Amino acid sequence: MKGNIVVGQSGGPTAAINSSVAGVFAAAKELGVEKVYGMVHGIEGFLEDKVIELEDYLSDPTEIELLKRTPSAFLGSCRFKMPKIEGNEEMYEKVFEIMEKHDIECLFYAGGNDSMDTVKMLSDYAAAHGKPQRFMGVPKTIDNDLPVTDHCPGYGSAAKYIATSIKEIIRDNESFGAKKPTICIVEIMGRNAGWLTASAALVKGDDCSGVDAIYLPEKVFDMDAFMKKVKYLAETKSSVVIAVSEGIHLADGRYVCELANENVAVDAFGHKQMSGTAAFLAQKVADETGLKTRAIEFSTLQRAATHLASLTDINEAFQVGHAAVMAAEAGKTGMMITLDRNGNDPYQCGTSAYDIHAIANVERTVPEEWITEDGCGLNEGYIKYARPLIMGEQFPVFVNGVPRHLVRK
Ligand code: F6P
Repeated sequence: MKGNIVVGQSGGPTAAINSSVAGVFAAAKELGVEKVYGMVHGIEGFLEDKVIELEDYLSDPTEIELLKRTPSAFLGSCRFKMPKIEGNEEMYEKVFEIMEKHDIECLFYAGGNDSMDTVKMLSDYAAAHGKPQRFMGVPKTIDNDLPVTDHCPGYGSAAKYIATSIKEIIRDNESFGAKKPTICIVEIMGRNAGWLTASAALVKGDDCSGVDAIYLPEKVFDMDAFMKKVKYLAETKSSVVIAVSEGIHLADGRYVCELANENVAVDAFGHKQMSGTAAFLAQKVADETGLKTRAIEFSTLQRAATHLASLTDINEAFQVGHAAVMAAEAGKTGMMITLDRNGNDPYQCGTSAYDIHAIANVERTVPEEWITEDGCGLNEGYIKYARPLIMGEQFPVFVNGVPRHLVRK
């Protein structure tokens, strides 16, 4: 590669997205790229020419290791989509003007389905206007809902955190052995895809009976059936822990979280901000049964828990960043790197590049055949798929008793 490159981060952060930046940087250095720029706050910041030189932060291998152990988006994220080209040519030209100013030959963008739209729009614009710059997508999302790729970097770590925390919650909840159980409802992110909520199923083992029910957004949520199930569990068990997705919805399309608050905010990608599902359900159960309830919303914790990251995930996040640079070096553009599983025993995963048009804005949900017949659990098919993704640990570097992070100045 003759010119420089730039890498950006977009959408909800994950515990592994910085590892992808490290992978991009490492590959670029292997190829002798002179300058690796980082967009500050994604394409939104790039439009204002907000860039840093990664060499200023990553000149030492220990700094690369620290970056891999730093949660959230080191470069800063954004929820901003490039608008349709027609009528917004000025904005598109601005991107290319800034790329030319810094002699940037290739742009790498780590994100989910909405962020991949930016890669698609920019590569389409370049193709239509005879521009030589290349654009590559680097997959990332705790939601695990990007199509084509076997799974998404960021998912394994969030799933590991959820499985671990739910196991701890179950231990706590069952400790009292009361005649009337506490009904504990745990809310998990993932919007319209239940992948992350499904990870609650990974808890079950010879030292833990697992959660009592898992409600995914792939199934219509039936409030009456839920209440019936909770009442039955309360009569038969001394501890009840239930996992619910933030995106569960009724037959009429309303999200359960909207039952508590009709004026749900909408973000810049047009998504409703979901929160409060567990709190609503816990209150309803308490009101109708008189039982003690507890609502736990993992919220930010599930995507920021680098202290409990999956080593498999961190390594694969690095791998996709690295592969994106190598694909661009080979002349590819308008593509996203995918993770391609070659086997589970032993688990092996390679990478390839796939046309961004088949990926941007498409949501992949949990397959029906992995959901149990009663709609409230996951079967062995899911466990086989997800277990390898949470394997291995990457420990933080502790300083003064708390993890050390790499921070942008
Ligand atoms: O896109 C990932 C995600 O973590 C979703 O699962 C969740 O609904 C959303 O981001 C929350 O976004 P925000 O932090 O903007 O509220």
